[in-house]
Amino acid sequence: MYQVIDGKKISQEIKDELKEKVAAMKAEGVERCLAVIQVGSDPASSVYVNNKKKACEYIGIKSLAYELPEETTEEELLELIGSLNAREDVNGILVQLPVPEHINEDKVLLAISPKKDVDGFHPVNVGNLSIGRPGYVSCTPAGVIQLLKRSGIEIAGKECVVLGRSNIVGKPMAMLLLRENGTVTVCHSRTRDLREITKRADILVVAVGRPKMVDAGYVKEGAVVIDVGIHRNENNRLCGDVDFDSVAPHVSAITPVPGGVGPMTIAMLMNNCVEGCR
Ligand code: GUN
Repeated sequence: MYQVIDGKKISQEIKDELKEKVAAMKAEGVERCLAVIQVGSDPASSVYVNNKKKACEYIGIKSLAYELPEETTEEELLELIGSLNAREDVNGILVQLPVPEHINEDKVLLAISPKKDVDGFHPVNVGNLSIGRPGYVSCTPAGVIQLLKRSGIEIAGKECVVLGRSNIVGKPMAMLLLRENGTVTVCHSRTRDLREITKRADILVVAVGRPKMVDAGYVKEGAVVIDVGIHRNENNRLCGDVDFDSVAPHVSAITPVPGGVGPMTIAMLMNNCVEGCR
């Protein structure tokens, strides 16, 4: 029988721990404040931003919401980021991605002070992660590590395979698994004999962005499978990059979609806001 890793429950545990910590900090006169900026009104982004605001409220973090019109210029956005960088009462800044096409995403990510970059997307934080220095870590891969640890799954010495190489998930995921002493392979859409490699994994993290791509043919008997993907299928139901029904009977543990990795991203964002760049 396989274990279904309950991301909803684990994220709730983390949020409750953070809530206590924030209350203790408040008693000592320390407050946390996250600024969330959304440019335009992409419906998916609005849902994410709203969930972030609600999580802040639950934990006791102050949140500042900037809902800017689609036609906001790059200069205006950079100016706002600059002013938030300078504010002592704001300790986290997040620009919801994607930004409209007329705005250069790279410039935006570079403009956020690395000290307030709770998304962990600034090159300074990415670099710090890769050389083992303290800094903010991208929330989704940090959430995957928490899912594994809090489910009692050992990483050290294991064959870890990451399928996907994005800047937000695949690359930082590989760095984090390495930091936990896993033996890490990164593969992607251009990898030859992909199944041969993913089948070596004791821990397989899938962040490839293709609905239900990974079926039983990709997975070793008894592996742990973490599904980072989230898609809506033709019946408007949510599904991941992993074909759960095909894969689950062969694994020792697996994350569902929804209710696996998804809720962990916000929990780890809250963790970054509370803990700072340790
Ligand atoms: N868009 C999709 N995921 C994310 C995320 O983790 N952070 C930000 N800022 N934008 C996103």
